[in-house]
Amino acid sequence: MVKRFNPLYSLIVFVIVLVGWLLFCHSEDPFEGNGYSWLRTTPSNPERRELVKVLKKASMGDRTVILTTLNQAWSGPGSVIDLFLESFRIGEGTEGLLNHLVIVAMDGKAFDQCKSMHPHCFSLTTPGVDFAAEKRFMTPDYLKLMWRRIDFLRLVLELGYNFVFTDADVMWFRNPFRHFAEDITIACDFYMGNPMDTSNRANGGFKYVKSNAMTIEFYKYWYMARVLYPNSHDQSVFEIIKHAKIVNRLGLQINYLDTTYFGGFCQPSKNMSKVCTMHANCCVGIERKLHDLRLVLDDWKNFSALSQPEKSLIGSSSSPSPWRAPNKCKL
Ligand SMILES: *[C@@H]1O[C@H](CO)[C@@H](O)[C@H](O)[C@H]1NC(C)=O
Ligand SMILES: *[C@@H]1O[C@H](CO)[C@@H](O)[C@H](O)[C@H]1NC(C)=O
Repeated sequence: MVKRFNPLYSLIVFVIVLVGWLLFCHSEDPFEGNGYSWLRTTPSNPERRELVKVLKKASMGDRTVILTTLNQAWSGPGSVIDLFLESFRIGEGTEGLLNHLVIVAMDGKAFDQCKSMHPHCFSLTTPGVDFAAEKRFMTPDYLKLMWRRIDFLRLVLELGYNFVFTDADVMWFRNPFRHFAEDITIACDFYMGNPMDTSNRANGGFKYVKSNAMTIEFYKYWYMARVLYPNSHDQSVFEIIKHAKIVNRLGLQINYLDTTYFGGFCQPSKNMSKVCTMHANCCVGIERKLHDLRLVLDDWKNFSALSQPEKSLIGSSSSPSPWRAPNKCKL
């Protein structure tokens, strides 16, 4: 039999090769090309090695660390980070927690500032972000930094560390640990009265996350969901995916913190004998925020100076808020 060259066969082979090539090119790791691929592929990466070193030094005995992020705008003297650190020093039994706090600097200036005032600093770089410009809420650079943070926290979990993540505009006045449960415990802008109720409006600016297979999966899913909801804040995506079937199937438990203990400007805690933290949430603008946070620290100092009987009189549910803030932050 004579074998004849069949143009149809070569066309089919060509199409198969083309389709295979296209599939190959589009099945790459979604983290690839975003500058994040080093996180998973190169364990000997110097940035990662440095992170392991910093976490180890700051860790509590049970592999828990406290993490906050810092950028240039919040790092100057008298700025948010100063007030944040001061709150630990004037809080009840919180000063020792500073030994376990890692400040994650998002730019070079913030890193220098951190090194001048705190023993545990880590520099987290974000490729393609213009650090000369101010990071206004919801601008593309702002979102890049937010998502970089989520991916970073996933790595911390993968390295086997539990963490408390706190924004630097959360003032710490008491040790919060007895309020934390597995797997994720998160603060609220508005608390509806039940710690398991998913209608509580979460605020990602303060949360405890226990490192386990479920939380790692959750953070991966959260990070990938940014592709489905472009131009969304990590927090609004959290609000969407906490209801997702895939998350329910993980069996992940999310607890919401009562604003009586973990208050903020959206819903301040009324009882200063109970409060653990006070967050300058529901506030836009750094000047307003700084002004009101100073009031918060002053109010706390005055409260601390009271005698025990005087203290217990403050904060019945019918009395007005014991805080002068929010003042300039009031919308
Ligand atoms: C706090 O204490 C200082 C000094 O004792 C006092 O001058 C100030 O008025 C107090 N502030 C409030 C809000 O009570
Ligand atoms: C505030 O909380 C403390 C400690 O739980 C409690 O003893 C006190 O009665 C509370 N104050 C008011 C006015 O409810």
